[in-house]
Amino acid sequence: MTAQTTLAQYLESHATPELASIMTTLATASVAISHLLDKGALAGIHGEAGGQNVQGEAQKKLDVISNDLLLNALIHNPNCAGVASEELDEISPANDDGTLLVTFDPLDGSSNIDINMTVGTIFSILPYHNQGQKACESDFLQKGENQLGAGYFIYGTSTMLAVTFGAGVAMFSFDPMTQTYILINDNVRISEQTAEYAINASNRRYWLPPIQQYIEELVQGDTGIRQKDYNTRWVAAMIADVHRILIRGGVFMYPYDTKIAGKAGKLRLMYEANPMSFVIEQAGGASTDGVERIMDIAPTAIHQRIPVVLGAKEEVDYVKALHETAGILANGDRV
Ligand code: F6P
Repeated sequence: MTAQTTLAQYLESHATPELASIMTTLATASVAISHLLDKGALAGIHGEAGGQNVQGEAQKKLDVISNDLLLNALIHNPNCAGVASEELDEISPANDDGTLLVTFDPLDGSSNIDINMTVGTIFSILPYHNQGQKACESDFLQKGENQLGAGYFIYGTSTMLAVTFGAGVAMFSFDPMTQTYILINDNVRISEQTAEYAINASNRRYWLPPIQQYIEELVQGDTGIRQKDYNTRWVAAMIADVHRILIRGGVFMYPYDTKIAGKAGKLRLMYEANPMSFVIEQAGGASTDGVERIMDIAPTAIHQRIPVVLGAKEEVDYVKALHETAGILANGDRV
């Protein structure tokens, strides 16, 4: 039997000591979150916390608990200069001499908690250059291209971690016996082609023409221009849909829609779209807002929303081509 590689061993050879230290902190917090999820209703974590996050969404009890666990752990890590979270209105400065910033969505897909379905923690690690000064929001507003590390912990039928430091994607499975993450794949790859797509089709009438056309072509299957049948899957937790794509391929979309005026899509650039784009690209996939590569977009605000199309390269390129032909920008403006 070959020896198993633990996360700690993997980090020794694949990450700087600073990145390894942040990853260890994130992994420790993820184990605490995973244990709470295991206890479920018995831990008193189901239901609403009573407040709203900055997006105006009702906060679940476990959203708040997970956020506090991650925040408290990270601000005590000397390498962490600051933290930004989906659940915090403002960024939280940490250690002035730290070299890394961390953004996270503590519990993506939290509407799944009460129904005992998959949720997860998404994280992105950025460089911090202003040592000696307190980190502020503008320090975080870096392109996804600058990310030094990113990934997610998924709490499903088992707890897993997918992570990239810019040289491929590694996947780990949490072993409840030894309480450690064990490497199961050190080079996750996704196929350029797929016949499976994920989108919330109930928003159809609010989509822009290129997305309407794209989905219409997929629904026509082998009777239409794409000449093959497509299957659809939607978990309503980006983390689970992206994880499925990493395991068996596919394309995931939360495109721009006109449902709520002024909202350019639903997903957040800094702690959902960027980290997932980094993982997907490092596994051989692609990621766009419909027009631009997501990791090339200069952020303007920590809670900025962005349309997302990611996964199998061939499909992502096809969606981009449809936007180009229609002369439509990702935010619905005409070129
Ligand atoms: O963070 C937003 C999110 O929960 C994503 O994880 C998920 O893909 C999406 O919202 C689900 O949206 P909808 O409720 O429209 O299906």
